[in-house]
Amino acid sequence: RIAGPCSVIMFGVTGDLARKKLIPAIYDLAHRGLLPPGFALVGFARHDFGDRTFASMLKDAAKAGARTEWSETVWKQLAAGIRFVPGQFDDDDAWDRLAETLAELDRTQGTGGNHAFYLSIPPGLFPVVVSKIKEHGLATSSEGWRRVVIEKPFGHDLESARELNRLVDDVFPRTSVFRIDHYLGKETVQNILALRFANGMFEPIWNSHYVDHVQITMAEDIGIGSRAGYYDGIGAARDVIQNHLLQLMALVAMEEPVSLDANSLRLEKQKILANASAPTELSKHTARAQYTAGWAGGVEVEGYLDEDGIPEDSRTETYAAMRIDIGTRRWAGVPFYLRTGKRLGRRVTEVAVVFKRAPHLPFRKHDVTELGQNALVLRIQPDEGVTLRFGAKVPGTTMEIRDVNMDFAYGGAFVESSPEAYERLILDVLLGDPPLFPQQEEVELSWKILDPVIGHWRRQRTIDSYQAGTWGPSSADAMIQRDGRTWRRP
Ligand code: BG6
Repeated sequence: RIAGPCSVIMFGVTGDLARKKLIPAIYDLAHRGLLPPGFALVGFARHDFGDRTFASMLKDAAKAGARTEWSETVWKQLAAGIRFVPGQFDDDDAWDRLAETLAELDRTQGTGGNHAFYLSIPPGLFPVVVSKIKEHGLATSSEGWRRVVIEKPFGHDLESARELNRLVDDVFPRTSVFRIDHYLGKETVQNILALRFANGMFEPIWNSHYVDHVQITMAEDIGIGSRAGYYDGIGAARDVIQNHLLQLMALVAMEEPVSLDANSLRLEKQKILANASAPTELSKHTARAQYTAGWAGGVEVEGYLDEDGIPEDSRTETYAAMRIDIGTRRWAGVPFYLRTGKRLGRRVTEVAVVFKRAPHLPFRKHDVTELGQNALVLRIQPDEGVTLRFGAKVPGTTMEIRDVNMDFAYGGAFVESSPEAYERLILDVLLGDPPLFPQQEEVELSWKILDPVIGHWRRQRTIDSYQAGTWGPSSADAMIQRDGRTWRRP
């Protein structure tokens, strides 16, 4: 799987995401020999850095973030195809210069008229960029392919997501649109399909007869860093539940697709998302909160309201939890609990499928006090693997039972290393391979699930809090306890 000749035109190339993830991923692809000789990277940015400064900025970013070893030779080859076009996004002269640069690269670098427009910019800028791509005749060509890559947020509610989809639909055919949800590029997320559908032993018990509930946790120890401008007003639910967590839920809950092509996957995920919703009593089944000052990784940290750029009366949530019910035969009565937060105790993402207890225990009561519910935990990150938790006899002369873990760890089982999610996804864009990109229906259905929850929160005057470094607010504990369950401590 090596990409064919092409140019990637990056909007927002000086932003956080490009520096930390996209540029290093492109370098890594080059280092692994997965980019063709006819490859070019064109940065379009509002600030005029000059070619030299631009190239050295990219080099610093690549060096700092690369997962593969640093090689000047690889960088030099890549740098030969790097160009910079300064200009405002609504400035037609700048777009003319971009078009000329792309034509020049087609001639000199052999990029073959294949262009991927990568929009790593705030959604407010999408309309102008997408319409200029169209006006300047860059969206279609008889000579090569044209694709557009969109980074989230895909709107801020159902209405705006639909508008965005209309805007993009108007310019690009649907097969040319690649929406990035980088969780789908993670090795461990793709393994959900392998675990479920390559094996015989999980599917028979993957349903409401055996599963009690599912917990999907995405905990981060970091705060909002320098992203106040992006984060405040968006909040945890829009930032990661709308996309990453609902996609995880869909992969865990969906039926077996007829094949792994994009449409079959979308159809199955769509059925789950269309049947999923938070229970109507939202105050009982959702929780949201903001972190206050505390400790993270042995360092004293500020509360959300004291972070740079956050208004002191902000009610944006940095923690969100909710119960989602899926109205299908397989999942009726099995709640999916989703939670995420910044400045929590540890960075960990996992999906825990928690099973019902054995219908009968032939043991003495005091022998089984340390027996919990069986659980299959898909450890998405950072300690990637799968854990099966079950009861075992404690060695000794009694029949005491205690929970133990059976572990599969990627590091111990495979010598192959996982590519970074963005490496995989960028390569897929260049190859035109769509299964790992959420489609417009999934995006809209996810907003449909979230809109009532966010609307309910917006009507609240206050927001709960939790101390940085803890596992979230007591309201989230109360939420799950009301159903007679507790959160796992990963
Ligand atoms: C992004 C969110 O989508 O995912 C960030 O916008 C979050 O707020 C990040 O920190 C987490 O990604 P990962 O891959 O580190 O879990």
